[in-house]
Amino acid sequence: MKLSTKHLIAIEPLTKTDIDLIFSQADEFKEVLNRPIKKVPSLRDITVANLFFENSTRTRLSFELAEKRLGADVVNFSASTSSVKKGETLIDTVNNILAMKVDMVVMRHASPGACQFLSERTNAVVVNAGDGTHEHPTQGLLDAFSIREKLGAVKGKKVVIVGDITHSRVALSNIYCLQKLGAEVMVCGPTTLIPKHIESLGVKVEHNLQRALEWCDVANMLRIQLERQDAGIPYFPSLREYTELFGLTQDRLNSLGKEIVIMHPGPINRGVEISSEVADGNNSIILNQVENGVAIRMASIFLLAQGIKRVS
Ligand code: CP
Repeated sequence: MKLSTKHLIAIEPLTKTDIDLIFSQADEFKEVLNRPIKKVPSLRDITVANLFFENSTRTRLSFELAEKRLGADVVNFSASTSSVKKGETLIDTVNNILAMKVDMVVMRHASPGACQFLSERTNAVVVNAGDGTHEHPTQGLLDAFSIREKLGAVKGKKVVIVGDITHSRVALSNIYCLQKLGAEVMVCGPTTLIPKHIESLGVKVEHNLQRALEWCDVANMLRIQLERQDAGIPYFPSLREYTELFGLTQDRLNSLGKEIVIMHPGPINRGVEISSEVADGNNSIILNQVENGVAIRMASIFLLAQGIKRVS
């Protein structure tokens, strides 16, 4: 079976069949990753360029590991050490890289739409590794995959996404992915960090963390994206007040009288949106998310590569 898409720019246009296909391929690759030899040479003849115009730890390492474990040739590009610093445009940078016969581009960029823009101007397959406040599709996939692994299914589960929804590409990809798989989704945070009209996506909105936690099976805690908040416009009075109202602590969890699954896409700001005790506690699947990221990215790249050529 093949994906319905040439590129992976967003979860929004994917079908449930696409997501199920990625998950079943990721199941197979997860089994490979638990073997002593963690490689399958499926993408031996494919060259992948990882173009990171924005900082990343997890996504960048995870994509690179996924590509290498599939046997692809990999080149890495970081904007901070490139000719972008000398004024080169995105399209000139990318065209120069593609002239070196690259088959697939994995790109992170601060501008929403940058990956779509690129996909309309290149023959290479484009994979979005996070474009501004738009989407982070492989994060949405790995989060839903991790819920399925922990709870046995996504369908029927109640997931609350807590924090800075306005600036979060992770939130949007999670909303689309979880809903396509049959979960109920709620967003929770201060009014200023919840986009107006987000209910039109079919999500519930809650401004009280305690009520949100009482409702959910899973809480996905997001970081406050201070780097995306316009300078001089306060979204909330202080980080201390934010933590008081929306920070997840062990005391809050203990007050629930039930177990819930705790997630975080990283990077964590310990002591702000989540306490260390909760992040490192028994209900946390934060490191399982990171582990599953490699299998999900292997599966995504492998399936997208079917559109480039026959892969063994
Ligand atoms: N989750 C995530 O995108 O982390 P990085 O910014 O470290 O890639």
